[in-house]
Amino acid sequence: MMKLDDPVVNQMRDAASAAMNNAYCRYSKFRVGAAVLTADEEIFAGCNVENASYGLTMCAERNAIFQAVAKGALSKERKLKALVVVTPTEKPTPPCGACRQVIYEFCEEADADIFIFGKGDAGQQFKLSELLPHGFGPLNLRL
Ligand code: THU
Repeated sequence: MMKLDDPVVNQMRDAASAAMNNAYCRYSKFRVGAAVLTADEEIFAGCNVENASYGLTMCAERNAIFQAVAKGALSKERKLKALVVVTPTEKPTPPCGACRQVIYEFCEEADADIFIFGKGDAGQQFKLSELLPHGFGPLNLRL
């Protein structure tokens, strides 16, 4: 299990913060940045991208995951090790339910480490299985 003070978590936090600054959030004004760490220890970042048709909004977490998938860095063989979420809020922001499900798709039983940070230095750490117990995934489809 990775720890909050791991240097790579700090690097992921920096990448997520940089993406957060590019958040396209003209409706909610709620900026979110995320970064994932892949099996090969590569970092990919994303931000939330909103739409005038509100329901089409994409969260930062899924955007970061999809960036990694597009680069071939996350796949059936290459699992997601950790994910960081950054928001400019007092309290850190946990991933929404839809994002928890998408994170599960790319780690399965390998149970990713999830780190969340607000404005301060104090972050919080979870295992995905705490946020999404009994997740539904490829194994349930016998895949
Ligand atoms: N949002 C994220 O990007 N990630 C989260 O974990 C929570 C919500 C975005 C979606 C929307 O653009 C804005 O935050 C408000 O819900």
